[in-house]
Amino acid sequence: MPTDTLITPLTETQRDIQRLAREFAANEIAPFAARWDADAFFEPSLVGKLGQLGFLGMLLPEALDGLALDSVSYLLALEEIAAADASVAVMMSVHNSLPTQMLLRWGNPEQQQRFLAPMARGEKLGAFALSEPEAGSDAASLTTQAVKRGDEWVLTGTKAWVTNGNTADVILAMARTDQPGARKGAKGISAFIITPDLPGFSVSKKEDKLGLRASPTVQLRFDEMRVPAANLLGEAGQGFIYAMQSLDHGRLGIAAQAIGIARAAFEAAVAYAGERTQFGQPIRDFQAIQFKLADMAARIASTRALLHLTAAAKDRGENVGMFGSMSKLLASETAMWVTTQAVQVFGGYGYVKEYPVERYFRDAKVTEIYEGTSEVQRMVIARALSA
Ligand code: CAA
Repeated sequence: MPTDTLITPLTETQRDIQRLAREFAANEIAPFAARWDADAFFEPSLVGKLGQLGFLGMLLPEALDGLALDSVSYLLALEEIAAADASVAVMMSVHNSLPTQMLLRWGNPEQQQRFLAPMARGEKLGAFALSEPEAGSDAASLTTQAVKRGDEWVLTGTKAWVTNGNTADVILAMARTDQPGARKGAKGISAFIITPDLPGFSVSKKEDKLGLRASPTVQLRFDEMRVPAANLLGEAGQGFIYAMQSLDHGRLGIAAQAIGIARAAFEAAVAYAGERTQFGQPIRDFQAIQFKLADMAARIASTRALLHLTAAAKDRGENVGMFGSMSKLLASETAMWVTTQAVQVFGGYGYVKEYPVERYFRDAKVTEIYEGTSEVQRMVIARALSA
């Protein structure tokens, strides 16, 4: 299946990045993905290897050891990695889209040199901690409290659903800095740069998940955790806005991940439909199967086209919040639909671990949930339409 957006032909650089990612995925990821999934194992060497390729600093400037690429190149790379293993893709997406972008946009030069340059080189992995056990879609209701004491902030609370949370070296965490009880909502939240060596930091729970099993998702406990004042990001009280603006970007990465999962399931279904014979002919000769494959291809191609157009508009400086939410919504629902159809094409073999489509099906589900559920994407779109 062509992996270009026909509306926007790829540049030579974009093709090179796509090829590099595809080769890396074929050699270093795809052969191990089923085992990592079965063992719920995160392969730590991938961070360094992706860093050496420049894939952990794809959107960062060269002065900070990044590749300074355009967003479409980044999304093409993510799609390739996700088609091999969506767990590796979410590690890469969260790192590139959320903590590094927050540090790039609002970090001061000292913070950027200290944290961002090693993150671009793959020497430090990043994570993003916004959600809490009682604050998911309603992110502004978070209760982790930060209190200023001398030249430190003291943070107490629990952050939930943190991708890379137990493997990250740098975590961008949101906490309340308004007076306890003042509840200024979104305006009382600040962003902090957290490192796991801070006193009071601990990983309190590792989730046992349906899919993305090779990507660790954890709860973090901040127990009177002492954070140097120098680790406050940007302006106090702006943390929610920073997080929302970063998620506008992150959602494009999750859309690319979802498209990668859908493409892998589609390609597996095409191959199987050619091999599997029933009633005396390959099942791809039945119109029932052909129509499924046609619908899968149409949904994947149209979703990718919207995503790449949105990414190109973002690079031109346009506000793409609504189109980013549309891309994430359509891509994640496409991934769920395509993987469901792929399991159906495989029949009983789609339901067992001998073939990879059951993994794609399990991995697809979370793309409709994290970085904003499909319901939150619809809220963002509806609000933009009525603004
Ligand atoms: N860009 C800039 N500013 C924004 C913004 C954006 N995208 N979205 C909101 N804001 C601003 C608003 O303008 C507003 O500021 P003003 O009052 O000055 O206008 C302020 O933020 C509050 O906004 P809202 O009133 O719209 O806030 P809300 O409480 O109604 O929430 C929401 C809006 C869209 C539902 C938001 O809470 C949301 O996105 N929820 C989902 C959270 C989410 O995506 N979590 C993902 C967790 S991270 C994760 O999954 C990562 C991982 O590890 C994989």
